[in-house]
Amino acid sequence: MFAGLDFGTSNCSIGIMHAGQPTLIPLEDGKTRLPSCLFIEKESSNTVTLSDAEIASRVTTLKNQQITAAKAATDEALITIARKQLRKEYRDKTANNTRAQSIVEALRSNGDVIFGEEAELSHVAEPENGFYIKSPKSFLGADISSAQKQVFSDIVEKMLAFIKQEAEYVKQIEIDQVVIGRPVNFHGLLGRDGNAQALDIIGSAALKVGYKQVEFLMEPVAAAYDYERQLSRDKLVLILDLGGGTTDCSMIQIGPGFVHQQDRQSGILSHTGQRIGGIDLDNKLALMALMPHFGKSAMLSNGLPVPNNLFRQAVSMNDVSAQQEFNARRTGIEINDYCKITTDPRLNRLKTLRDGKFGLRVSRSAEQAKILLSEKSPIALPLHYIENDFNISISREQLSDAIADELRKFEVLMTDAIKQAGALPDALYVTGGTAMSPVIQQWIHRVFPDMEVFIGDHFGSVTSGLTTHAQRLFGR
Ligand SMILES: Nc1ncnc2c1ncn2[C@@H]1O[C@H](COP(=O)(O)OP(=O)(O)OP(=O)(O)O)[C@@H](O)[C@H]1O
Ligand SMILES: [Mg+2]
Repeated sequence: MFAGLDFGTSNCSIGIMHAGQPTLIPLEDGKTRLPSCLFIEKESSNTVTLSDAEIASRVTTLKNQQITAAKAATDEALITIARKQLRKEYRDKTANNTRAQSIVEALRSNGDVIFGEEAELSHVAEPENGFYIKSPKSFLGADISSAQKQVFSDIVEKMLAFIKQEAEYVKQIEIDQVVIGRPVNFHGLLGRDGNAQALDIIGSAALKVGYKQVEFLMEPVAAAYDYERQLSRDKLVLILDLGGGTTDCSMIQIGPGFVHQQDRQSGILSHTGQRIGGIDLDNKLALMALMPHFGKSAMLSNGLPVPNNLFRQAVSMNDVSAQQEFNARRTGIEINDYCKITTDPRLNRLKTLRDGKFGLRVSRSAEQAKILLSEKSPIALPLHYIENDFNISISREQLSDAIADELRKFEVLMTDAIKQAGALPDALYVTGGTAMSPVIQQWIHRVFPDMEVFIGDHFGSVTSGLTTHAQRLFGR
């Protein structure tokens, strides 16, 4: 059996063909979108093997519990809930007493690992109990040492194994061929070498977890193949995939006249992509809208402001060197010293952020703010883990101002893709979670006022396109 797998910076999903349609498989609590994060507990527990009988029995119990959510849930959704519950119970029962001191040690113990939303919750509830890794994809193209590469290879392997195992159980199938999405450019400063490194890590991990054939497809091309299924006439489209870690564009000819071509390469006129995505918007919003409440631009008694760099480091969660710098001992001493020579009480919150290791939570709060702003504006963002009754009001205008630089970069990517193709697109097709924001949608209409714009399935388009491509490659 073949599948399409989107190994996203923020979310992973996997699809198979069902009744001629690409269909996404539930992975966690009935949801097809698995947040790309994991939590490796310091006290490792045995790898869990669940029997069919215990899963079936738990599904029956869930059904009998008559809770509204479970009543409405499909059998497939209930299976994912049952498996998650049972794994947790096993973990609690079999946790050993040796505490891993480093992530390498924790990985070496090869115990059970927590994924997705459950990983996020475990990290928030008990950050000291394990190692939390968010968005491993954003590190794969970076300038990392061979030891770090090994750690990320292990992490990617664990994630791919989990997705494969859950999908296979839910659908009772074996998946041995897979098309995996890849961004035009991976996050990182190594350029071409970084892309090769990232593909090597993902490809090798995919083979290790048991896929027998592994192919890659550019994520925007996958989105185009998904859009193509609705078309009754040929079009030259500009695809814009605004993801969590990367933004990708492709100019591609699609439609009934192209769909049966064996080799689609000549219809793909250009690709552009950059390592900017939703995470960078979160960082910017955190810097511009949250950090002023943490003492950004507070004045010191020597007449100078607190260095801006500290606030940038505090919220740059996907920048390894910024994080190392911020967590260095000397930075702690520096912040303490600044707190002593200012009358501005807001700076104490920066100290709380650093001392309490709340960087990831602040970044998560900024993401939450961005998502809430898609529903209404202004919003009140609670930051009670920093200080009691601490809420910040944020508006859509603030978000729009904070991400002005990123919007300009997105525009350059789009115009470059059009220039490289040497032709104007008939339409723009937009996908990716970041495109859910009304700020982004308004910006698109402002920049391309006369363009026909289609907003696709934000979280499913790439996976559906990958699955469609997998059928072409493997489904004969
Ligand atoms: N309602 C919303 N408004 C704005 N942004 C949103 C909304 N919901 C989710 N997002 C953002 O969408 C991003 C995730 O999108 P998506 O799942 O398409 O990324 P991905 O495919 O994992 O990443 P990539 O393609 O870069 O590897 C996150 O940055 C998330 O904050
Ligand atoms: Mg994506």
